Amino acid sequence: MSRPPLDDARLLEAVRSAGYRPGRADIEPLFERLGRKAGDGRPIRTEAVVEAAERALARLGLEAAEAAMARFDASEPPARARLVRLVGRIALERPSEGRGAIDAFLLARLDDGDPKARRAAIVALGKLDVPGAEAPLLARFVASSPPPPPELRALAAALGRLGGPAALAALDRARTEDRELDRILDEARLRLRRTLGRREPEGLGAIDPRAKAPGPLRVLLHARAGLARLVAEELGPAFAPRVLDDATVEATLRGELHELHRARTALRFGFPLPSAPADDPGEALVSALTSDAALAVLRAFTRGPLRYRIEWASAGRRRGLTYRVARATADARPELVNDPRESLWEAVVDEPRGPRAEGGARAARPIRIELWPRGLDDPRFAYRKAHVPASSHPTIAAALARVGEAREDDVVWDPFVGAGTELVERAKLGPYRSMLGTDLDPEALERARLNLDAAGLSGVELRRGDARELPLGARPTLILTNPPMGRRVLDKTKTGPLYDAFLARAASVLAPGGRLVWISPRPSDTARRAAAVGLRCALRQKVDMGGFFAELQRFERDGSGSVSSRRTR
Ligand SMILES: C[S@@+](CC[C@H](N)C(=O)[O-])C[C@H]1O[C@@H](n2cnc3c(N)ncnc32)[C@H](O)[C@@H]1O
Repeated sequence: MSRPPLDDARLLEAVRSAGYRPGRADIEPLFERLGRKAGDGRPIRTEAVVEAAERALARLGLEAAEAAMARFDASEPPARARLVRLVGRIALERPSEGRGAIDAFLLARLDDGDPKARRAAIVALGKLDVPGAEAPLLARFVASSPPPPPELRALAAALGRLGGPAALAALDRARTEDRELDRILDEARLRLRRTLGRREPEGLGAIDPRAKAPGPLRVLLHARAGLARLVAEELGPAFAPRVLDDATVEATLRGELHELHRARTALRFGFPLPSAPADDPGEALVSALTSDAALAVLRAFTRGPLRYRIEWASAGRRRGLTYRVARATADARPELVNDPRESLWEAVVDEPRGPRAEGGARAARPIRIELWPRGLDDPRFAYRKAHVPASSHPTIAAALARVGEAREDDVVWDPFVGAGTELVERAKLGPYRSMLGTDLDPEALERARLNLDAAGLSGVELRRGDARELPLGARPTLILTNPPMGRRVLDKTKTGPLYDAFLARAASVLAPGGRLVWISPRPSDTARRAAAVGLRCALRQKVDMGGFFAELQRFERDGSGSVSSRRTR
């Protein structure tokens, strides 16, 4: 026996649940609700019931769209507009179902006698980007007797979504006293300009890694916390690096853009723009983006249109503010194209946090704005074709390799090799005598082989075995590794005994003067244990592992060739 249809209150309740689908008995009463008139004295607001009915019907997909189209001709306002809206909604939610009939239905509604049904069709056509819709929409938009303002607004918005050059020309020509339409026209032109720009012969353009800095250019390199000093070391004196904090290095670029990629321990870099007062982030951003400094950077490194997007580092999407900034920026510098989807550059806005002090002033730190070349190809870690569940972040592996340093007679061993990131990073630093990677997991070894091959390293030996006991040939001079941290690969309680046993093994196999460089999530324990087995601690550096901190440690075995002791925290 079928259950009785839902009453309004239960319908509102039901559509809140993602799993609800109307039963057969509900369909007719749901369509009936689409015909309700506002202010009919019922206990629940008509708009809420109609919206719930529409949402419920949309869950039925094409079946409901077909039923809506079938009953359209016989329907009266306000049902007509709601039926059109329902059909559009279903097509948006399931873009591949029944589109031929739906598109034709929506196009035919442009001539409907009911203005609200026409408007619902215009909105749906714009959102769905229906082929063939531009001409009839444009014809209505430029008609000598213009449609009523709400329809004109819907037409402008739809043309901004699906129009071509003719639509853009018409939008550019349009003048109005209607402030809402004026706003929509602006947004539509902006949207259309960037869509059409993408289709131009130069297309999306590119950031040229070989392009030279237009003059000495300040750049900020960002790294995982704890690695800034290594970034500065990698850059070397030619970049005049200065460590600003444990995650940031300021440097000067004088040569080609790609030269910044020599910093393998950095995550990314950006060009800081003149900072501005913190009170109005929108104004600050417009003034930074349109500054000569910004244009100099963008023009120097971009081939093709200057496309950028805005990233509010400490806030959400801020659509309204982003739009106002994009508009003011385009007014001042028409060559700057705001394009959230296909941009080569990202303007990252970092605002001071914390409450305003008395009198409304924010903390002394100004808004910081940087231009990040997000479209620049970063070839540094392109060899990483495969991972294991706890694969090292490549900038951490690069840091380990750098702290381990490269000696050309090095016999390198990674006892927990995983997918081999540390070995590749060590090889990038310079010659070595031999290289061995071992792991308990044969699949990890396969992945390591893929990465080593991709990095062009052919002579590396990979072997299965337990780091604590597998037999080794030559004594390693450098043990370089990121061991299991007790997070993904190994139970936390087991890391202590594993580290203890491994440190004893490392101390017994390391060649005199050899180094062990690794990351430890139990820094004090491992430092103590290393000392107990005769390894001298040469460096301890706290590092952000992405959600937790661990310590990069370098231990040395006494003997010829040992380096002087360094210790930082
Ligand atoms: C953190 S992952 C290494 C990640 C690696 N550096 C990378 O970039 O892919 C630790 C590895 O240690 C291996 N492992 C765990 N216990 C081991 C043991 N006793 N001997 C050798 N390998 C072990 C795991 O199979 C895992 O591949």
